[in-house]
Amino acid sequence: MNSKSQYSHSNDLVERFNATRNDTLNICENLETEDFVIQSESFISPPKWHLGHTTWFFQEILKRYDEKIVEKYSSSGAIYNSYYKKLGDHWDQSKRGILSRPTVDEVLSYRKFIDDLIIETLQKDNFNKDCLKLIELGIHHEQQHQELLLMDIKHILFQNIDYPALYETKNNKIENETSWTHIDEGLYQIGHEINKQKFSYDNESPMHNVYLYQSKISNGFVTNGQFLEFINDNQYLKPDCWLSLGWDWVEKHKVSSPLYWNWIKKDEEWYEYTLRGLHKLDLTRPVSHISYFEASAFAKWSGYRLPTENEYEYSLSQNSSHLKENYLEAINIEGQALWGWTSSSYEPYPGYKEFEGFVKEYNGKFMCQQYVLRGGSFATLKSHFRNTYRNFYHPEQRWMFSGIKLAKDLN
Ligand SMILES: [Fe+2]
Repeated sequence: MNSKSQYSHSNDLVERFNATRNDTLNICENLETEDFVIQSESFISPPKWHLGHTTWFFQEILKRYDEKIVEKYSSSGAIYNSYYKKLGDHWDQSKRGILSRPTVDEVLSYRKFIDDLIIETLQKDNFNKDCLKLIELGIHHEQQHQELLLMDIKHILFQNIDYPALYETKNNKIENETSWTHIDEGLYQIGHEINKQKFSYDNESPMHNVYLYQSKISNGFVTNGQFLEFINDNQYLKPDCWLSLGWDWVEKHKVSSPLYWNWIKKDEEWYEYTLRGLHKLDLTRPVSHISYFEASAFAKWSGYRLPTENEYEYSLSQNSSHLKENYLEAINIEGQALWGWTSSSYEPYPGYKEFEGFVKEYNGKFMCQQYVLRGGSFATLKSHFRNTYRNFYHPEQRWMFSGIKLAKDLN
């Protein structure tokens, strides 16, 4: 085996596996048992389900190499399979919150059982290289779910009348940049070079050439203060700047502000719910929890446009990252880094090949009616991120940590 390959260093993988599994539990450490079961909307998953699903993913990996060792939990796919149709029938996503069983304690025992089997596998001398690659994918999959957990927990806690905080941490000052990245007209290489040494998702490859025109893209995000001007200019009340589907969405759902903004009548002031609880709206912080429709309308209203994903990737390569390596540090600067909407539809790159095996369904089948977000949020760990990373959501979704960067043509 190539000694330079990361997959030959199973000790490193053991360490990262343990750290990742612990991070997930640490995110949940301030939850009460009741919080683990709630599904506040059909698209939200109860924290208990995330704990089980990420474990089931590792179980599916183990099953490929020794079916006998995971017999004890052979029916867990019926609850914890998310969308892998080839692996059989599974529970309805919109009804995950009606299950009181397995209990939280049972899910935690399940995690421990599978953790021990994975560690045992990683400590074998004759480990299988393909199995290790899948475990690497399982670690990244769990890191993705850690961000989803924070998104879902925020939505779940927000439903309570006293707006509880997940973390009682201080509100650190955020430095929102005001500079721009200039892009010269020409040919650029975009995407992840397929390279066995470094992990990436299938949708980031192959690396390919794109032609960009002269433009500029903001390095900072649109602030709450700027977005308040958009609201005070009655932009949620008139269709001028909205895409047709976006205006239909505003009218149907009576949308009048970002998801976690809250107008407190007695104070006559805007508040914002964060993972630290409800606070007066800080006008200097980046506006977050924005849908594609809102981002697009704001950009048009302010005389700009949204960047394309290729422009966004180039700008990331020119600037330093604000992403953190642990979640407590990250929560302290909630909003400093956000996923930025791009105007690009989520589509395959030229020559795209899906992962093989049971993870074939991981990314490719979602390449329809969704838009790409770039850059990573404060809740995306540095070790999970690459500049080529493509996140994607439907244009009306906004419970993720999403914000707005602006672009302008310069020709
Ligand atoms: Fe998943």
